[in-house]
Amino acid sequence: MSYKFQQLDKKLDGIRGSIDRFASSFYDNLLKAHPEFQNLFKHSDMAEQKKMLAGILILVIRNWQRPQMLASTLKRLGARHVRYGALSEYYLLFGEVLLLTFKQYLGSDWDREMEQAWSEVYEAITTLMLEGYNEAKKANGYLIERKSAPSQQNQQSLIKLLYKNNYKRES
Ligand code: HEM
Repeated sequence: MSYKFQQLDKKLDGIRGSIDRFASSFYDNLLKAHPEFQNLFKHSDMAEQKKMLAGILILVIRNWQRPQMLASTLKRLGARHVRYGALSEYYLLFGEVLLLTFKQYLGSDWDREMEQAWSEVYEAITTLMLEGYNEAKKANGYLIERKSAPSQQNQQSLIKLLYKNNYKRES
C-alpha cells in the first residue's frame, strides 16, 4: 500500500469511531450549501441515509486493495442513482462538501497530502459510479449525459490507479 494511502487509512481511524456523526455533519453541510438538493432527499429517511453513506465510505477504504470488487459495487451504486435523480454534475459539489467535512473533522491532521489522497479516492468512486449510472441510463433508453461515462480506456486507467495504490494484490 502506498505511503499516502496508508496515511489516509490511519487518519480515517480517527473518524471511524464517529463515522455516523461525520455522515450527519456531511448531510447538514450538503443541504446548507446546496438547499436545492433538499428536494432529492424529501422522501428519504435521513438517519438511514447517513448510515448508508458511512457504510459505503468504510467499505471503499477497507477494500481499496480489491479494485475489481469495488468497481462492481460502485457501478451498481451509480446505476441506482439514476432513480435518485443524482445528475453527474452534482458529484463535484457532493465531493467538495465531503472534503470540507473531512477538514472539519480532522482539524490539524488534514493537510495537502490528505486532500490529494481523498481527491483521488473520490475521483475513483465518482468515475465508477458514473460509469454504472450511464450504463443504466443507456440500458433504459436515455441519452447519455454530456459529461459522458469514462471510456473503456479510462476505466482501465482507473483500475491501474487502484492497483498503483494497492500493489496488485488482486487479479
Ligand atoms: C461519491 C458519491 C456518492 C456516494 C458514495 C453515494 C452513496 C449513496 C448510498 C450508499 C446511498 C444508499 C442507497 C443505495 O445504496 O442505493 C445513496 C442514496 C442516495 N443518494 Fe447518493 N451517493 C453519492 C452521490 C450522490 C449525489 C451526487 C447525489 C445528489 C446530490 C446523491 C443523492 C442520493 C439520493 C437522493 C439517494 C436516495 C436516498 C433514498 O433512498 O431515500 N448521491 N447514496
